[in-house]
Amino acid sequence: MKGIILAGGRGSRLYPITRGISKQLFPVYDKPMIYHPITTLMLAGVTDFLIISTPQALPTFRELLGDGGQWGVSFQYAAQGEPRGLADAFLIGEEFIGGDPVALALGDNIFHGAGLGEQLEDINRGNQGATIFGYTVADPSSFGVVEQGPDGKAISIEEKPKNPKSNLAVTGLYFYDNQVVEIAKSVEPSKRGEIEITAVNNAYLQRGQLDLKVLPRGTAWLDAGTFDGLLQAAEYVHAVEKRTGTKIACPEEVAWHIGLIDDAQVRALAADHRNEYGDYLLRLVG
Ligand code: TTP
Repeated sequence: MKGIILAGGRGSRLYPITRGISKQLFPVYDKPMIYHPITTLMLAGVTDFLIISTPQALPTFRELLGDGGQWGVSFQYAAQGEPRGLADAFLIGEEFIGGDPVALALGDNIFHGAGLGEQLEDINRGNQGATIFGYTVADPSSFGVVEQGPDGKAISIEEKPKNPKSNLAVTGLYFYDNQVVEIAKSVEPSKRGEIEITAVNNAYLQRGQLDLKVLPRGTAWLDAGTFDGLLQAAEYVHAVEKRTGTKIACPEEVAWHIGLIDDAQVRALAADHRNEYGDYLLRLVG
């Protein structure tokens, strides 16, 4: 399975901070925001990534992430000239995706929870149709909102509804089989001029091929694209890391844990960080 990280967009909810810097490069306590979606997909078993961002920001992402070899993965890069919508990822990524299934992770979404990695790996193994993740939030009106039938299956999805039919928001992590490219091509831009991911998900729903997984309450899902979301994400990562002595979304650790890099490579990476981050990497390999 291929993986796409969507790290462009306007970031207008974070103006003026995002006028000069891409939000997915912002620190979430001790790591750049984009480390979160990258490690989420690595835990799902993705090693082949396409990073999509604006033409202006792309060189900075390259500088931060390189070709991925340091973590035993591959990063390719592609520019999105205008924020044409989330499903534009599959048009930009068509060649990269080839004949494979693909996971899409939004660059500003943060997931953390016990057993999440295993759950995602299972989805990756059996990937057919589409899998999306619902999460109960107090105010879902700024998200895609999914309505469930009596059997728990999705029966409708609406983008940013004024009167949401449920409190179940669609999160920024999606798994698709290869039909997604053709489906995305057939989607007409919405009233706000975007190729909506909700339209793609509705196409799968109509084909009877949309699987909705509701994330358990113990899982944290944060959208770091607003002032409060950004601060909450940093506070969450800080609190969990200080309390447990472990790190959230540390790509070196994830790569080592799943066997993409060995002890010697972790030591070499640690030597690059002469601070608490490097000390943590050294402690991992003893
Ligand atoms: P959003 O948060 O929906 O949009 P945005 O980042 O442009 O922010 P704002 O609403 O504040 O203007 O996007 C979710 C993620 O997808 C985020 O990481 C940006 C990215 N994105 C793109 O890369 N291209 C796009 O065309 C869009 C719409 C979003």
